[in-house]
Amino acid sequence: MSLFDKHKIFEKHSMLLTVGILIVVAIGGIIEIAPLFYLKNTIEKVDGMRPYTPLELAGRNIYIREGCYVCHSQMVRPLRDEVERYGHYSLAAESMYDHPFQWGSKRTGPDLARVGGKYSDEWHVDHLTDPRSVVPESIMPPYEFMVGRRLDFASIEDDMRALRVVGVPYTDEMIDNAKFDLQAQANPDFYPEGADYDDELRDRYEAAAGREDTVKVRVFDGDASSVTELDALIAYMQVLGTLVDFSTYEADDLQNRR
Ligand code: HEC
Repeated sequence: MSLFDKHKIFEKHSMLLTVGILIVVAIGGIIEIAPLFYLKNTIEKVDGMRPYTPLELAGRNIYIREGCYVCHSQMVRPLRDEVERYGHYSLAAESMYDHPFQWGSKRTGPDLARVGGKYSDEWHVDHLTDPRSVVPESIMPPYEFMVGRRLDFASIEDDMRALRVVGVPYTDEMIDNAKFDLQAQANPDFYPEGADYDDELRDRYEAAAGREDTVKVRVFDGDASSVTELDALIAYMQVLGTLVDFSTYEADDLQNRR
């Protein structure tokens, strides 16, 4: 009986074939999944990760609302050309507070995972208002309507509560102060002298990060008279990829994983 004759047994009995397929697929599945059970943690432990501040979170909501993810990914792959262009490849830990994550795969525009700090706030204002004014060959659509448009943050506490349900460690204090924190981050002079809301905001979120200077407090859109959608979106752009301190991160350190 040749090998082909043996195979005929499977070909003639559909149930036998089905069982055979299941066994083969199960072997492949186990080989892929089993190692994960031996890792204590598939998300590496890194210093600096913290939940988004209310202003950054509001910016992220706009990013999703406007479908920026349709053209931009947020994941630097561990390939040489990407690392040379964008910086350190993305770590799982960097998107652990992203629900839903914004990795994406479509790159009509560049990856944005490490865009934080790459440009000035003014550049972002110009670019979002009219991309062609700073990048003449750009095909990105203008978002001029966001200039001066008041940010609606009525539901920011609910957003944070919802994220807490899926595991983002927002404390009651963070949620109770969300509206103050949001306004204080977009304008250091929002509160009268003596009331250090922006310091409180920093303490709250930077303590969660275990790292200083991760919360940027300033007038992002250049207009201090109101908190706009542009303020929120730029605050979000400027924090992307800046939380983890890569000068202290060692990829080969297996202690991080076990
Ligand atoms: C139709 C596709 C498209 C959409 C939608 C889009 N972009 Fe872009 N974006 C681009 C392209 C193309 C570039 C590269 C040219 C340029 O810099 O304008 C770019 C560049 C950028 C850059 C500069 C990145 C860098 O490293 O130089 C930022 C920041 C950016 N986009 C943010 C956004 C935001 C925020 C939104 C949503 C409000 C958005 N984009 C929506 C196509 C898009």
